[in-house]
Amino acid sequence: MAEHAEVLSFPSAATSAPEERPVLVLDFGGQYSQLIARRVREARVYSELVSHRLSAAEIQARNPLALVLSGGPASVYVEGAPEMDPDVLRLGIPTLGICYGMQLMARDLGGTVESNDVSEYGKADALLGESPLFRDLPAEQVVWMSHRDSVTAPPPGARVTASSPSTPIAAFEDRERGLYAVQFHPEVVHTPEGQEVLKNFLYEVAGAPPSWTPAAVIEEQVERIRSQVGSERIICGLSGGVDSAVAALLVHKAVGDQLTCVFVDHGLMRANEAEQVVETFGGHFHVPLVHVRAEERFLSRLAGVSDPETKRKIVGEEFIRVFEEEARKLGDVRFLVQGTLYSDVIESGGDDGVAAKIKSHHNVGGLPADMRMELVEPLRLLFKDEVRRVGEELGMPERLVWRQPFPGPGLAIRIIGDVTAERLEVLRAADAVLQEEIRRAGLYRDLWQSFAVLPAIKSVGVQGDERTYAYPIVIRAVTSEDAMTADWARLPYEVLESISNRIINEVPGVNRVALDLSSKPPATIEWE
Ligand code: XMP
Repeated sequence: MAEHAEVLSFPSAATSAPEERPVLVLDFGGQYSQLIARRVREARVYSELVSHRLSAAEIQARNPLALVLSGGPASVYVEGAPEMDPDVLRLGIPTLGICYGMQLMARDLGGTVESNDVSEYGKADALLGESPLFRDLPAEQVVWMSHRDSVTAPPPGARVTASSPSTPIAAFEDRERGLYAVQFHPEVVHTPEGQEVLKNFLYEVAGAPPSWTPAAVIEEQVERIRSQVGSERIICGLSGGVDSAVAALLVHKAVGDQLTCVFVDHGLMRANEAEQVVETFGGHFHVPLVHVRAEERFLSRLAGVSDPETKRKIVGEEFIRVFEEEARKLGDVRFLVQGTLYSDVIESGGDDGVAAKIKSHHNVGGLPADMRMELVEPLRLLFKDEVRRVGEELGMPERLVWRQPFPGPGLAIRIIGDVTAERLEVLRAADAVLQEEIRRAGLYRDLWQSFAVLPAIKSVGVQGDERTYAYPIVIRAVTSEDAMTADWARLPYEVLESISNRIINEVPGVNRVALDLSSKPPATIEWE
């Protein structure tokens, strides 16, 4: 017994939960700060993006395995440039400075940084020297640069470890103090070996174990949910999207039938999606599920409404109303599940424009503002792609896990004009054909979104000997990283041809198919 206790009382990096020993990415406002945190996590090391304003004591209190200083838009000598507590570099925590982070490190440790006449932007040929950072990597390689200032003398005691034609000091290190710095950006895909550099830093320099896996996330979250919820009851609104679905399954794994899911079926989903939700949750996972068929209620409130913002407002309000009614019927429920993601947390956390620039996603299944329930947010630490991997690990069907984003107001904002049952039926049928053909061509996962739009106008056509007067359908397919910008997808002609032929032949009420060739900006992804 005693022996056992002794073994358990020595938590190491390898045995503690990954969240307890994070890699902290200090955000100096660079456009890639969030990307750095994601890349670290892709190396299976838990990381968080934090403000550069944290003091050395605050950082130490987080017990991090390593620090990464991000890039930033400023010059270290400009008034008001983001600073950090110089004592951070004296904590003895392995630290990697990237771009601006490198320059701060150099300046604060007694090196020099100077402004170049011209900035260096784009690919550069770097020559890498001997360093744990560059272990097993080719000595010559392409790296991505984006800077105006450069380090012109490394700090005393540091050694230059890489150079490029226009940047003689492209990397330096002080191994004894665990300080490493690179001028280039290892986190972007344009530095082909960049992820290897990050891995070398994490594994070789910082000794961080690659233990942040979907299975570890599930284990950790299940523990947390259990200790938060105890034996109380908890409710979760399902929207049909991946976030609320994964959140619900995590909670169900933790507290079983203490959870009730409420699926408000507003009748604005795509073909078969409502059935899939019911089948997956009620049927497959045996989660207690209330399926509220509220299509008529939503349709009657939407009748005669063509203004998009009014449609959104109506759907949002009605959703909350229905959800509240169902929650009340369940009696005494103390907790509410919410599918908040890490990107939402980052956005609301920033107070100085740094770490505050990620668009929040309108989460449906969202929160009735005045409900007095305590929130359970099992996805708070996860990026979207991690949510999907956790969903896969939990055994969620591929179709649900990889579902493209779908707006909360659903098909209501893809009918341009009044929403009627007849138009919904036409749009749903056309959209189903489009989805089928996109999936058949193997393109579904390459596209950010692909869908049909029904502008409620009619144009003339001819079918057999008859003139027709029917709706057009617009095909919208885009590629995107984060929905902030998007490009129209270059779908192969054969795919477009079968989508068009099938919609016109199979969907009554449609006589014309058009393709949307607009990027965002200036267009948006949705038509409303
Ligand atoms: P836009 O059309 O602004 O869309 O380029 C960007 C992303 O947001 C989604 N979207 C919505 N999601 N409620 C939602 O839950 C909405 O009202 C809404 N409007 C747009 C859109 O599908 C795209 O992914």
